[in-house]
Amino acid sequence: MKFDRSNEYKKNIHQLIPGGAHTYSKGDDQFPSLAPAAISYGKGAWVWDVDGNKFLDCSMGLTSVTLGHAFEPVLERVRLELEKGVNFQRPSVIEEEMANEFLSLVPMHHMIKFAKNGSIVTTAAVKLARAYTGRKLIAFPADHPFYSYDDWFIGKTQCDFGVPEEISNLSVTFKSYDLTSLVELFERYPDQIACVITEPERNFDGNTHAFLKEAIEITHKNGALFIFDEMITGFKTAFPGSLTKLDLIPDMATWGKSVANGFSFCALTGIREVMEMGGIDKPGKEKLFLISTTHGGETHAIAAGLATIDFYKKNNVIEKNHATGTEIINGCKEILIKNTLQQQIQVSDTPWFLAFIFKDADGKINAGYRTLFLQEMIKNGVLFQGAFVPAYTHNHEEILFFLSAFEKSCEIYKKALETSYANFLIGEPIKPVFRKYI
Ligand SMILES: Cc1ncc(COP(=O)(O)O)c(C=O)c1O
Repeated sequence: MKFDRSNEYKKNIHQLIPGGAHTYSKGDDQFPSLAPAAISYGKGAWVWDVDGNKFLDCSMGLTSVTLGHAFEPVLERVRLELEKGVNFQRPSVIEEEMANEFLSLVPMHHMIKFAKNGSIVTTAAVKLARAYTGRKLIAFPADHPFYSYDDWFIGKTQCDFGVPEEISNLSVTFKSYDLTSLVELFERYPDQIACVITEPERNFDGNTHAFLKEAIEITHKNGALFIFDEMITGFKTAFPGSLTKLDLIPDMATWGKSVANGFSFCALTGIREVMEMGGIDKPGKEKLFLISTTHGGETHAIAAGLATIDFYKKNNVIEKNHATGTEIINGCKEILIKNTLQQQIQVSDTPWFLAFIFKDADGKINAGYRTLFLQEMIKNGVLFQGAFVPAYTHNHEEILFFLSAFEKSCEIYKKALETSYANFLIGEPIKPVFRKYI
């Protein structure tokens, strides 16, 4: 596999675009040296890089593409909308169609606001919570990876450069799925926490439902609002997401990623009492400037969302995607046992999002070994970053292709464990996205 054009791309792009990409997790420091630097096009579950190499895609547009790349039923609807124009002086009628459609999926919520990015809707949710409660603090799990690139979240990570301390101090954290930790937080900051925002489900093998049910009760008892961030769980754990699957009512929920099969459509839904604070139909009330963006109502992305919802309604996408995930989990576990690597490589039992962990011979999580595994998967035609998110176009052929690459990569991993990953890895280990220094 040649990466000549990729290497050229890497050389130039950092002079043009800070970070070389528009999501840090797509950056060069998140992949082995022997990896494609940029994608030319994709179809179904496959992508082709700038050198013409073909790869099986695993994270599918950072989990946003759950049907498949260039998925015809979505494209058909987008093309129709494109012909009609994409942005007007007044709202497009498609906004009402989408509002009705989306809210019919989440009957516990009464109003919806659209946006182009997830960070915009999570930030809007915390702003509403602050306005509604008159409190300043935002709470979220310290051990969850990402909620927004805005200051209220990033200021709490290692990457707090450029965020005033006064802002970072307004966010407080607890341990995920740990009620004691949440209760302690409310005790430490009485009457100060405006909301708790959390992903409803991650790679957690305890009782998510029991935790969330009680966490919502505790939060309400303490006068705060509860927000589900369904950016990743939405259209993956269930249709539309964990709130319907678990039959729970958070005050607000944020949606994005797979809602429009990769097109830029995100949404904030919530109960009327909170959401209507962003309205203009109650003269005399203080005006809250909620989400107000030029491209929020862009018609073709909304059309992509409508087509995606329609496809989910008519086909068993969730069932098929979970079956794909389960087959890969079981296949990987068999391969790991065969190679006595169960202690070194682990895969989560979450068929909607398979997360892999890589350890050294002593059982410690190790970036060098992780990078080596990614390098070998890529060498065998799988664009793998340590996670697999099943899409509707991952079929039997794709499952076998993944497992074959997984087996070959395990063989190299096993050899490397005898000495060091460094004898097999070309280039440097991947660095954490959230780090203090470059
Ligand atoms: C749980 C969660 N919330 C929010 C976001 C932010 O979404 P976006 O990248 O569209 O701004 C992400 C992105 O990865 C996410 O994983």
